Amino acid sequence: MTKNEKDIHQHRKDEHLSLALKYWREGKNQTSGLTFSDLRLLPNSLPELSVNEVSLKTQFLGEDFAFPFYIEAMTGGTARADRLNEQLAHIAKNQQLALAVGSQSIALKFPELASGFKKVREIHPNGFLFANLGAGHDLENAKRAVDMIEANALELHINTAQELPMDEGDRAFYWLDNIHEIASKLEVPVVVKEVGFGMAQKTFKQLSQTAVAGINVGGAGGTNFAWIERKRSKNGFNVDDFGLSTVESLFEAKAAGNQKQLVATGGISKAEDIFKSLCLGADLASSAGFILSTLMQENGAEKVEATLAQWKADLAKFLVLTGCQNRSELAQVEFLYSANALNFLQQRQGKIY
Ligand SMILES: Cc1cc2nc3c(=O)[nH]c(=O)nc-3n(C[C@H](O)[C@H](O)[C@H](O)COP(=O)(O)O)c2cc1C
Repeated sequence: MTKNEKDIHQHRKDEHLSLALKYWREGKNQTSGLTFSDLRLLPNSLPELSVNEVSLKTQFLGEDFAFPFYIEAMTGGTARADRLNEQLAHIAKNQQLALAVGSQSIALKFPELASGFKKVREIHPNGFLFANLGAGHDLENAKRAVDMIEANALELHINTAQELPMDEGDRAFYWLDNIHEIASKLEVPVVVKEVGFGMAQKTFKQLSQTAVAGINVGGAGGTNFAWIERKRSKNGFNVDDFGLSTVESLFEAKAAGNQKQLVATGGISKAEDIFKSLCLGADLASSAGFILSTLMQENGAEKVEATLAQWKADLAKFLVLTGCQNRSELAQVEFLYSANALNFLQQRQGKIY
């Protein structure tokens, strides 16, 4: 590898951070898909419950998660990215949260960049950490990524709609057999994740035939990599409004009869979003863009921690509001669907539930 290739890779990482932040703040993350506002909670005026009685404890990949949320994969491998990961690791440790690092492919290519990723494990020694790689990497690389941070699980990202608008992006996507091979042989569980374009029923069905332990729907409605990559590139391929939102992807998981553990990511920016995701069948929710945007304010780390503390308190209140004592009762929560949500459900399920 030449120095030039390393510079190009690092420049892309830093550009992703700058552009994701800029466009999140400018609101360039909206698509025409369903949002959490398309689902209204029905009142339960006699909950017969206290906030002290409720628990959102969840088991995910064999571990207990007291709070069903973690910080999603963003970055690593440049000075700026490593500083950000260090901050995120401190926050995750203080809040007892899991954390996913960004793609480690840069550190597999340039091993001198692994130290920044390793720092995350040093800061959060007992935390649940997700390693992260693209789904085209082989088993050997998957093992190296996991070993690098002593990860508890590996996220394999699938991102066709991000690669195609990139001038330097991939153009061939044969991932399914590889995903199964890695998930079958790796010593830690594998979660397949989209990066903001969501998943339709077919994908859940295909993944149901593999050894992956979990699926992260990575829906549209938050960070929009089609927009980010189009602004970085010259080829003009425009899929700004492509994909299924997080809500729609969760509907699709249900319609496909998904049995894998499920993560809701994509535009999660308040406790209500997490709560509704859990009601729609997610085991956990996670955020990238919202956390980045909050962290990059003055006293950002404090603001992120205050927000997470607020979300924990708010989630317990949502349980009481809907008369649920624990996670297993959330499937019974009833919604009033917007006309758009009804339309989606009719088209995609042939029936309304
Ligand atoms: C700056 C930035 C960099 C990202 N890099 C990665 C990555 O390296 N690997 C990955 O799987 N996802 C990556 N993502 C995608 C997120 O993990 C997440 O799937 C996506 O941003 C949607 O969530 P959000 O709307 O909460 O941002 C990145 C997101 C951001 C904002």
